[in-house]
Amino acid sequence: MAAAKVPLSRVYQSETIDRRILEVVKGGNYILGPECKAFEQALAAYLGVKHVVLSSSWTAAVHLLHLAQGIKAGDEILVPSLTAFPSIEPMIHVGARPVFCDVDDTYTIDPGDARKRITSRTVGILPVHLYGRPANIDALKKLADAHGLWIIEDCAQSHGAKWKGKRVGSLTEHAAFSFYPSKNLTVYGDGGAIATSSDEIAAQVRMLRNHGRKDKYLHETVGFNLRFNEIQAAVGREQLKVLEDLNAARRRAAHWYRRELADVKTLTLPPDDRDGVTESVYHMFVIRLDSHDARESLARSLKEQGIETGVHYPMPNHLQPAIANLYGALPALARTEDYVKRILSLPMFPAITQGEVKTVCDAIKRSLVR
Ligand SMILES: Cc1ncc(COP(=O)(O)O)c(C=O)c1O
Repeated sequence: MAAAKVPLSRVYQSETIDRRILEVVKGGNYILGPECKAFEQALAAYLGVKHVVLSSSWTAAVHLLHLAQGIKAGDEILVPSLTAFPSIEPMIHVGARPVFCDVDDTYTIDPGDARKRITSRTVGILPVHLYGRPANIDALKKLADAHGLWIIEDCAQSHGAKWKGKRVGSLTEHAAFSFYPSKNLTVYGDGGAIATSSDEIAAQVRMLRNHGRKDKYLHETVGFNLRFNEIQAAVGREQLKVLEDLNAARRRAAHWYRRELADVKTLTLPPDDRDGVTESVYHMFVIRLDSHDARESLARSLKEQGIETGVHYPMPNHLQPAIANLYGALPALARTEDYVKRILSLPMFPAITQGEVKTVCDAIKRSLVR
């Protein structure tokens, strides 16, 4: 009998959320109302930050943040190449240049490599807490302090993760979150937010997202319509209430994977949390094979057995055609270029059962001995 289908990810749903959606629909208030305000306040309290400002996606929120920061043409921003392409889109739209850095063996930006790429034009660092594991924020802060740089944490994949007991998103002055459906905290559609300790930046982003309005018919600046809506804010509020449980379930699934795969010598498992330093939230569970061929063959075999996998990401950003068109050929990044050929994301979501994890691991073992 064919193995049960195991998807790569599955969105958390509940009857409470269904009920809340209906309530908001019937309430007749749809944009930037009390639900949005309450979601912003709840998320700010959860993270331990002064301000959260919602927008229509991470990409939109960071575009507004970069505008509010006054980033200008020619500014350089250090960013890992191994991340979702949107991490670099806003900076390019405001005229800044991404300076691509290699990752270390935690799949997050290598602070030593980043240091080598600092020039007189460098203004900031955008580390990505990739796959739900915090980047080395202590080392990055040291670098930022020494060179007068700002940091924006990319928390799109890391809602609730901690570094030395503090939640990501509160570790530096600015951060940004995505609520895209596969994320740890979602709103049943697109959505995003910035978190910031700056009153001025928060006020600017609030104004920019809503046509530059200071008041209903008073426009202080030329802005955008990148607002957030009440229905999705209600979903976000409910998802936030259970986020700790959902993350605990992801960690439990990661533990099952580790136990099942511990003896498979040809696999590298995700880096373990360092006691007292990182607490990962396993947005993804990414294994690494010995070779590109081994990865491709395993992915194919799992697909045949009804198991969905992914590669995050198959092409690093410094090699994307869009980037080559803008900047020509860029320097090689050895570790990044090696890893993208060999990584494989396994099914990971809060509701995954121990049985499903075993199904995946048994299938992996069968495939690798073939
Ligand atoms: C690391 C990272 N940064 C940024 C983004 C962009 O988020 P959004 O789709 O909300 O714009 C994503 C999501 O794809 C992501 O995974």
